[in-house]
Amino acid sequence: MSTSTELKQRDNQFIHPWDDIVKLGSHQRTLLSRGDGVYVYDSDGNRLLDAPAGMWCVNIGHGRTEMAQAIYDQVMALCYVSPWSLTTGPAADFAAQLAALAPGDLNHVFFTTGGSTAVDSGLRFVQFYNNVRGKPNKKHIISQMRGYHGSTYLAGSVSGKERDKTNLDCETDLVHHIPAPHPLHKPEGQSDAEFLETCVGNLENMIDEVGSENCAVFVAEPILASGGVIVPPEGYHKRCLEVCRKHDMLYLSDEVVTAFGRLGHCFASEDVFGIQPDLITTAKGLTSGYIPMGALLVSERLIKEIHSCGGDSAVFSNGFTYSGHPVAAAAGIKNLEIMQRENLFEQARENGLYLQQQMQTLRDISIVRDVRGRGLMACVECELKKGGDDLAMDYEIGNLIDKHCQALGLIVRPIINMCVMSPPLTITRDQIDEMVAILRQGILKAMDEVNELETDAAAAEHHHPSPSA
Ligand SMILES: Cc1ncc(COP(=O)(O)O)c(C=O)c1O
Repeated sequence: MSTSTELKQRDNQFIHPWDDIVKLGSHQRTLLSRGDGVYVYDSDGNRLLDAPAGMWCVNIGHGRTEMAQAIYDQVMALCYVSPWSLTTGPAADFAAQLAALAPGDLNHVFFTTGGSTAVDSGLRFVQFYNNVRGKPNKKHIISQMRGYHGSTYLAGSVSGKERDKTNLDCETDLVHHIPAPHPLHKPEGQSDAEFLETCVGNLENMIDEVGSENCAVFVAEPILASGGVIVPPEGYHKRCLEVCRKHDMLYLSDEVVTAFGRLGHCFASEDVFGIQPDLITTAKGLTSGYIPMGALLVSERLIKEIHSCGGDSAVFSNGFTYSGHPVAAAAGIKNLEIMQRENLFEQARENGLYLQQQMQTLRDISIVRDVRGRGLMACVECELKKGGDDLAMDYEIGNLIDKHCQALGLIVRPIINMCVMSPPLTITRDQIDEMVAILRQGILKAMDEVNELETDAAAAEHHHPSPSA
């Protein structure tokens, strides 16, 4: 058995997502060794509440014996078959279950390996659809700034977080970004109704600029998750869907985060936002992170159109070795069974309201700029200087909050200066209280540390004025 020091050393061979390659080998990551419910345990045995549920994914909580059993049983029965020419019971059953749960006529399922490949497959499906129906110019994609859709080439290109694109190339000819519908950016004096018009107008203006005849699809997260839990103004998605219909564009709702209970329903597009999109992408909570899997749900309407335009054949030559992986599908079926048996969607609806109330209590802390969210997705955004946009300071405060919260027993892993809470759906009210109380202490301690550092720096300056002073 390796010691944790040896493991941390070996971890230097592991290039982690978003690693700073110049600093490779010098990162100090916490080594986690066990999980149970909403808690995980580090290699020293410390218990930490897993506020992000891994990364918006461990929706049924850690350490479920029956999930392990379902995975084991499927591995022993049949670990893999090629999805090209064969199928399995779990893959077929899971597709049928998802089709039944999805909104409207989204009753076809294309399985992928995760969220990025689901988004990529969705965008390729849109290209395929327009090629088959003889509209090869309709290729342009409109998505949102601050949206995150993944890390494959096309999914990365439609993502709108500029800070995520440093040193990387992207598809820029076919992809266009409109501003995120962020209520915090509502101009002073504008009413909510006017702000909604501005947000929808951004989509219409972009379509005018690119040309309706060239626009293929609008891609949007119901709530922009990694962009900082941005909840769009009421009616935004409905209005954008109408705009898409007017311009013969498809609507891809990226529910990689918002599906499987995060907002209290299996899918959020219809139950929370009242829309039936043409395509839905999902992953994460699909298997609660126990095994990687993603899915693209496709509307029957599109399939019928392809049928009528495709002549004798229209091959969608896109797919993955692990599309419909039987072990992942078995995990997905067990995941849904647990969610339904334990009424986790209902519990998430109720406790989501409580979480939002409790998070609002953090507003009295001076560096808290905003607290927002919906369901079991919440975000507290901090800033050291009012109205300042200083990336280094934003990272500093985020890192300090992270350090103090972890020492106090809470994993936060802020997105720069934004602490995003998306706990397992099984979280209880007491555990929400624990989470918010630690978060408060962590933010206060981070503030104290910044103040101390500033006081020390001022004292040093006083004793040893810099030459230019
Ligand atoms: C909304 C959204 N779409 C797509 C993705 C990409 O998913 P994956 O990391 O599983 O490829 C993510 C990941 O965080 C996401 O939040």
